[in-house]
Formats: sequence, C-alpha cells, structure tokens
Amino acid sequence: RNLLIINGPNLNLLGTREPEIYGSHTLDDINRELAETAAGLGARCEFYQSNHEGDLVDRIQQAMGNIDFIIINAGAYTHTSVAIRDALAGVNIPFIEVHISNVHQREAFRHHSYLSDKAVAVICGLGAYGYTAAMYYAAKHYLQ
Ligand code: DQA
Repeated sequence: RNLLIINGPNLNLLGTREPEIYGSHTLDDINRELAETAAGLGARCEFYQSNHEGDLVDRIQQAMGNIDFIIINAGAYTHTSVAIRDALAGVNIPFIEVHISNVHQREAFRHHSYLSDKAVAVICGLGAYGYTAAMYYAAKHYLQ
C-alpha cells in the first residue's frame, strides 16, 4: 500500500522559515521520521516537494493508479489553487490536508482552503505531528 506525502511552496525552508510559527525541524527531519513511522505501519511512502503549482499538479496526476492515499500540505496554494483542487478531485485519491500552523489563528486569507471540502480530514495546528497523525489515520482506514 502506497502513501504519497506532498509539500508545496516554501516548505523546503522548514527549520529556518519563521521557526516561531513552523518549528525548528527541517523537511528532511520530518520526512525521515515519517518514513520510519510508515515502515512500522507496513506502508510504503513517497515524498515530493515543489514550489511550483504545475509541478504539484503533475505529481498528483502521476499518482493515479499507484498511490492509495495522499497527505498534502499545499502551503500557500491551499488558499489560491483551483488547479490543485481539480487535480486531487481528478485522480480521485483520498487525501488529508495538513497545515503545520493553526491557519485559523492567522490572517483571514488563510482561513479559506480550496481543498478542505474534498479532503477526508483537515489537520492544522499540531505542528509536524499533523503529518504523523494523518499517516496513522490513513494506515488504519485506507491502507489495510
Ligand atoms: C501552511 C499554512 C499556509 O497558510 C502557508 O502559506 C504555508 C504553510 C502550514 O503548514 O501551516 O506555507 O500550509
């Protein structure tokens, strides 16, 4: 069973980017821990990060037929991208939307997501643990 973890723009800067909001772990740290968790759950996982909207759309399209579940933090594209929404709906792969910060405590423009109503669940404000929580849920409910 295959899991795809997608991170969007600026998440490659985790660890140095606004650490008071996003924490001190780098994306590599987070992904390494997720890979261990996935192995413990008997799931295979792939990781993808891009700062480019079209590349994210391409990666989602490529998941069709070989990925069972997607965990996605689309970063700022969450709040702007009809294209990423359409890609996720188009491949019809269940997904959980993750945000490291609690977007609802922040600027009003972060309160709307183009993805949430298509998502199995939305996790925000749990820090990097949000990805882990999403993975446990996916493993239990979608990857058996
Ligand atoms: C984010 C929240 C978004 O509003 C922001 O643009 C990000 C990161 C988060 O993980 O908290 O880039 O998705």
